[in-house]
Amino acid sequence: MDLTATANKDYFEYRMQEMEPIIDFLKNKICLKGEKLISVGCGTAPEISMLDYDFSEKIGIDLNQKAIEFCKNQNKHAEFYCMHAIEYLEKEKADSVDCILGMDIDLNIFPDALIEQSFKVLKKNGSIILTERKDNLKIYGSYLLLPIIQRIEKENNCDILAFQFPNERDSLLVILQKK
Ligand SMILES: C[S@@+](CC[C@H](N)C(=O)[O-])C[C@H]1O[C@@H](n2cnc3c(N)ncnc32)[C@H](O)[C@@H]1O
Repeated sequence: MDLTATANKDYFEYRMQEMEPIIDFLKNKICLKGEKLISVGCGTAPEISMLDYDFSEKIGIDLNQKAIEFCKNQNKHAEFYCMHAIEYLEKEKADSVDCILGMDIDLNIFPDALIEQSFKVLKKNGSIILTERKDNLKIYGSYLLLPIIQRIEKENNCDILAFQFPNERDSLLVILQKK
């Protein structure tokens, strides 16, 4: 399987297998249900398919046109847009979104602004759920997400939960819940 070509069915299924234990954990750990779910940097978006029955409105955003074309063919129950994640979130109404997912989005290019914009559009008790890969821990000596989270904790008035998984790609799971 060629994992470098990521906008295809093989990669979708590979990521679905990797994500399955995390999505199951999330379903048991927090109330992962609601009206609107947005996945930013969604890639092939297996998480949206896995949460198909848990949210009535599902949206995937990615800058990669090929990934968005794949998603549109793969999943007819969700909407997909080729856009910058912040640009999309700026169009959403305040307090209107139940859950924002960022699975293995590249946190070295993931700006604080995206997290802040996410908090503006989230409903009370809504969640931002992020995963980060083990490689970042090896390369940078620390997960990149943790200092960002510590900085925004007070400003955004949220509860934070963090978990480690044995996965390569989604080894740190962070849940930020808006109070
Ligand atoms: C490592 S991939 C992860 C894809 C998918 N979430 C997964 O877990 O398989 C990171 C994705 O983020 C997308 N991306 C990076 N910066 C983005 C941005 N500013 N707005 C939207 N998508 C972005 C990339 O195009 C890429 O598909």
